[in-house]
Amino acid sequence: MRAIRCNQYGPPDSLTLEDSPDLVPGPGQVVIDVKAAAVNFPDVLIIENKYQMKPPLPFTPGAELAGVVRTVGEGVKLAPGTRVVAYVGTDAFAEQALADASACVALPEAADFATAAAFTLAYGTSHHAVVDRAALRAGETMLVLGAAGGVGLAAVEIGKVLGARVIAAASSEEKLEVCRRFGADATINYSTEDLRERIKVLTDGKGPDVIYDPVGGEYAEPAFRSIGWRGRYLVVGFANGEIPKLPLNLALLKGASLVGVFWGDFARREPQRNAAAFAQMVGWIGEGKLKPYVSKRYKLADTAQALKDMASRKVTGKIVIEP
Ligand SMILES: NC(=O)c1ccc[n+]([C@@H]2O[C@H](COP(=O)([O-])OP(=O)(O)OC[C@H]3O[C@@H](n4cnc5c(N)ncnc54)[C@H](OP(=O)(O)O)[C@@H]3O)[C@@H](O)[C@H]2O)c1
Repeated sequence: MRAIRCNQYGPPDSLTLEDSPDLVPGPGQVVIDVKAAAVNFPDVLIIENKYQMKPPLPFTPGAELAGVVRTVGEGVKLAPGTRVVAYVGTDAFAEQALADASACVALPEAADFATAAAFTLAYGTSHHAVVDRAALRAGETMLVLGAAGGVGLAAVEIGKVLGARVIAAASSEEKLEVCRRFGADATINYSTEDLRERIKVLTDGKGPDVIYDPVGGEYAEPAFRSIGWRGRYLVVGFANGEIPKLPLNLALLKGASLVGVFWGDFARREPQRNAAAFAQMVGWIGEGKLKPYVSKRYKLADTAQALKDMASRKVTGKIVIEP
């Protein structure tokens, strides 16, 4: 089977496509024929050794996948042939991947592999952020930065399901058009417009109740300065590459909270609450309220290009590798 390998830390072009023997499941494990693996921004950071999770070299990147169970280890009840989705952390950019049977969720026959693969991290993160950490309420206003990206677009959709007014901010008209299609009530192009001025106009000077920030860098301070009374500022990520520093008096002046979001640890530390969040979202999918957007599909051999597109802000919604 073929797999993308990271033999040394570096940019996407240092990844290699290699042949290796078929995988064999250990007790409690399954081997999955990968049909689709989603690309996430942390993949770009992990291969460059810039992420908090540091898998030992060499490794295969790719955190989440959907596919068909190929073989099962001792004690596993899942049957070969079962269509599943699994969050594996690494190893997904390959024709086969190992997963704990307990990490696999069976998929309905009708589910599209790419859409299923693209769901867990983006929607898990944004549900935890918006519902659990920010407690966004109907009628409140949420500003989403990087709103056309993977976690950003999921936050836009979840905000609308909760009955909030959502302002989407992104760097191009094309990206903002995607945000409007997915429910954004108003938009800000922060490449061409003054972020603070536009927030002021769009919120009648009150500022947003919640700000969702997966970007960091130069947008964080003007956004936090604009937050409303009792606002909640969600620290989700730093796709911009720079971890911003904020003057703490801004929190005092607005009675505002700076709220950290770390879905991976939340899922490990509070599995029951995480499971409840997914049960709620599966219901929302059934009601047609969430529609994960897969904008592009790449072959396994084009994984480096997919990662480069993500690093250079060319991606909207989610992209997937289809081995
Ligand atoms: N806290 C958690 O639990 C958690 C979980 C998952 C992901 N994350 C983090 O969330 C962030 C977004 O992840 P994602 O998978 O949604 O990524 P993504 O799809 O690439 O979205 C990131 C967005 O950031 C914006 N951006 C601004 N400057 C950028 C730059 N220099 N390079 C790349 N993008 C830039 C882009 O929008 P514009 O071009 O419109 O500015 C892009 O759409 C990452 O930092 C990731 O590590 C955190």
